[in-house]
Amino acid sequence: MVSKKTFFLTLSGENINLSKFEIISLFKSKNTKFFNVKLIDRLLIISSEKNISNYIASRAALTHDISELLMVSSIEEHDIIESLKRIDLNKKIENKKSFAVRIQKIGLKDINSEYFERIIGRIIFNKIKKKIRVDLLNPDILFYGVFVKNKFVFGINNAQKIRSNFKPNSLKSRPFFHPSALNPLLARVMVNLSQIKETDIFLDPFCGTGSILIEAFLVGCNKLIGIDINHKMISGAKRNLIKIGVKNMELLLSDSNHIPLRSVSGIATDPPYGRSSSTYKKPLILLIENFFLEMSDLILKNQLITLALPSHIKLVELIDNLYFEIINEFNQYIHSSLTRRIYVIQKK
Ligand SMILES: C[S@@+](CC[C@H](N)C(=O)[O-])C[C@H]1O[C@@H](n2cnc3c(N)ncnc32)[C@H](O)[C@@H]1O
Repeated sequence: MVSKKTFFLTLSGENINLSKFEIISLFKSKNTKFFNVKLIDRLLIISSEKNISNYIASRAALTHDISELLMVSSIEEHDIIESLKRIDLNKKIENKKSFAVRIQKIGLKDINSEYFERIIGRIIFNKIKKKIRVDLLNPDILFYGVFVKNKFVFGINNAQKIRSNFKPNSLKSRPFFHPSALNPLLARVMVNLSQIKETDIFLDPFCGTGSILIEAFLVGCNKLIGIDINHKMISGAKRNLIKIGVKNMELLLSDSNHIPLRSVSGIATDPPYGRSSSTYKKPLILLIENFFLEMSDLILKNQLITLALPSHIKLVELIDNLYFEIINEFNQYIHSSLTRRIYVIQKK
């Protein structure tokens, strides 16, 4: 029988559905079965057959922390204390010399986190039948609790500060820059939504300066293909990729309406909108329609494409006849006249 563990993750607040789908995409890319997905405000609770916390911590862009769930109670103090008393902590704390308790709250101003850190710390200390000290700075085990809505969710933290430790390859650090370059955080999210695995051949058919390829490389994908119609972009992307140590890449000066490839296994892309990047006189709708026509020959059933487009483009009408379906979409406000929409599209 597969043993099931439950985890809770604090998602970043700017687009909760996108953050949640990023996590689900990571479970899928790791071929890990998951169950009972529940969202309480921006706290995601998810059970799975394996612990993939390290994998999530190394890849996710829109999550703050991940912890293994030990108990859920109401926010009443006596309920919290009774629930804590029922947990067997001795097994969890084997080989550990120090611990700390950290309590966070999501949207509940009146709760005094420090007070709960103290009383929970004391209960844990009294429950454990071995010598252990409190180390607030560098504990061997961090107990982590979150007050959210009418619940107190408590467990052992596996990774913290995922979002703030996320070290994107910043635009400033690159030898080649263009105003159309995609924000590295969004590039990472798009790579994750495409569910690529390390062994995949990853394609960005409108690669520009290479932001998406860079993030694909940073999550461990080592066969990268970029296509762009503009030779300055191809040579600039090459400089950007060499700078971060990419060796296995093909950068093709070509039109993505005629792709010179036989197969690829992961695709994320950000086509031109005709503003800071040119469509080279082709109407954007035609460019996208022809691109999907190419994709229908290139990719297999169930393969995914992650694509960013301005929200006014009616993508569903363009791709329906071509045997693609939109499995998810997320709006991202850029400024008053542009909302970007991120699509995850699957070949039927
Ligand atoms: C929005 S930019 C991509 C930016 C890129 N994601 C980055 O972060 O640098 C779109 C790119 O598509 C390229 N492009 C335009 N038409 C194309 C076509 N038919 N085939 C391939 N590339 C094309 C443009 O030269 C431009 O570099």
